[in-house]
Amino acid sequence: MPAPSFSTPLSRRLGLRYPLVAAPMFIISNEQMLVACAEAGILGAMPSLNGRSAQDLEQKLQYVRARTDKPFAINMTIGLTDPERLQADVELCERYEVPVWITSYGDPTALVERAHARGATVFHDVINLRHAQKAQSAGVDAIIAVAAGAGGHAGRISPFALIPWLKAELTVPIVAAGCISTGRQVAASLALGAELAYMGTRFIVAQECGAPPAYKELVCAAGPEDIVYTDQVSGVHANFLKASLPASRPEGPPPEAAKKWKDIWSAGHGVAEIHEQARIEQIVDEVVRQYHDAVAALPR
Ligand SMILES: Cc1cc2nc3c(=O)[nH]c(=O)nc-3n(C[C@H](O)[C@H](O)[C@H](O)COP(=O)(O)O)c2cc1C
Repeated sequence: MPAPSFSTPLSRRLGLRYPLVAAPMFIISNEQMLVACAEAGILGAMPSLNGRSAQDLEQKLQYVRARTDKPFAINMTIGLTDPERLQADVELCERYEVPVWITSYGDPTALVERAHARGATVFHDVINLRHAQKAQSAGVDAIIAVAAGAGGHAGRISPFALIPWLKAELTVPIVAAGCISTGRQVAASLALGAELAYMGTRFIVAQECGAPPAYKELVCAAGPEDIVYTDQVSGVHANFLKASLPASRPEGPPPEAAKKWKDIWSAGHGVAEIHEQARIEQIVDEVVRQYHDAVAALPR
């Protein structure tokens, strides 16, 4: 039997059983994860660029559409995507009626208009208040607050400060991102005022995830001290597993983004609580049961 549902206004609006998101991860999120998350009652997300071409993305969208009618999300990294490719990906999101568009690295205004014309919801990813205010003015439906310690391009502000601060300064709902790997951390995020918990690192070890076996094993074995926050890999500060970084940066021009993120593995401080690989359905069940236990065990 599935663990008892719980919800927030935003998760109800999206039709989710639980207010949880498997966050988009470059290269390693895939269409199998989107389907498994949808069936497990949470929102799965994948970067559009995980399709090697627009045609490849279209095949992935067809795969998802053929297997579930529940919501899922596609992430478009505006400033990091070739404009022609971005245009093609937006058209595919329109054609396949992608329910949630997650925008990052750029001005979401144009995409918000197009998403809303199709009845889609837009989340925008930020690490600071200024970008959050701009995105709110552009009309996004929720702000993803990416805190210090997150996997991928992480912020510098503790989630304890970032979530309540953005909530107080904004009117749109907040999605908490960074270091959420257990139900206890989900409960803490909701207590701080978030309406969804956005979990990336936790899902690297999902059996459905495309990360190589050695990457998953490293995540299971690592602690927060094995994570390095550096801009030396891609020019933007991000968190990486120390053991996957070259001992010293190689000479010459940096390799293209896909090559870098393939060979150097990103993960956040949330590795602390991840010890074994499991199917998405099992991870969701464990996190939800931990959430209920944590809430019940709070001192009164
Ligand atoms: C391997 C990896 C790749 C990521 N790629 C992207 C990406 O392409 N686009 C994006 O918006 N966020 C990306 N992120 C960030 C996640 O979507 C999310 O914000 C983050 O994982 C949340 O923190 P957590 O890992 O501590 O749960 C990536 C994270 C990881 C770990």
